[in-house]
Amino acid sequence: MKTYSTTAALRAAISAARRAGKTVAFVPTMGNLHEGHISLVRRAAREADVVVVSIFINPLQFAASEDLSSYPRTLAADKEKLFAEGVQLLFQPAVEEIYPEGMDQHSKVSVPAVSEYHCGASRPGHFTGVATIVNKLFNMVQPDVAVFGEKDFQQLSVIRKMVKDLCMPINVIGVATARAEDGLALSSRNGYLNDEQRHTAPELHRVLQQTREAIACGYDSYGELEEHAKLALQDAGFEPDYVNICDARSLQQVRGDTEEVVILAAAKLGTTRLIDNVTLTLNPSADWGMLAAN
Ligand code: PAF
Repeated sequence: MKTYSTTAALRAAISAARRAGKTVAFVPTMGNLHEGHISLVRRAAREADVVVVSIFINPLQFAASEDLSSYPRTLAADKEKLFAEGVQLLFQPAVEEIYPEGMDQHSKVSVPAVSEYHCGASRPGHFTGVATIVNKLFNMVQPDVAVFGEKDFQQLSVIRKMVKDLCMPINVIGVATARAEDGLALSSRNGYLNDEQRHTAPELHRVLQQTREAIACGYDSYGELEEHAKLALQDAGFEPDYVNICDARSLQQVRGDTEEVVILAAAKLGTTRLIDNVTLTLNPSADWGMLAAN
């Protein structure tokens, strides 16, 4: 595995692979790699000849009050994991390589609508930071395929819209959320949880599953279900930010023609903000409104 820290060196390596007729898959990350990231890398390896992974903790997507300085940095262990997976190219730029004139002076990519609700409402500017860095990394790597986790469901929607709106010739693939045995979605932020919080954390997924089951059984007072879920999270010791039941395509309210529903949630345990989601497919032809949950 070769590690590059400059765009010029990365581009030269990718051009050489292209000249040899290779296809390229890309997995952008912020490091602190866990099994969830590894599942993205494995999917990428199935999709193309060469896998490029980036590790860059993007300051532009963190608000001043957020955990940028304490975000876990585990480069040596990350490199070992990527090497073991047979990743060919690692891009690990410094902040100055990405934002040479500083973040304020850098052009931004803002993706309307889908960036504005849910986490976008609670974390203003976050998705502009994500879209900007992903756009920039896409321009540097120019992959055929890019792989993202479905745990960050809204992030994936933002990236898909950006790619579509800006006519980027990239196939964006979402990979199912990797979970611990007790259901907790794998996340770098799980490392912030103390033992008691780690014990409580799977409740987030359990409450989402219960909400999904209620919809599957035909309960369609979504506002009440959202409130009920938030209360259940509160009872378990969370400080819920939101539980929103929405159309999986638009991330807005479920409508008569909604085919797939996503239940998105964000909640704090202590100072750690966790997010998760579950989806289900509605079947308008069934009397009780739902056929299959996934
Ligand atoms: O999901 C992440 O790790 C980050 O938001 C991403 C996509 C690497 C952009 O910094």
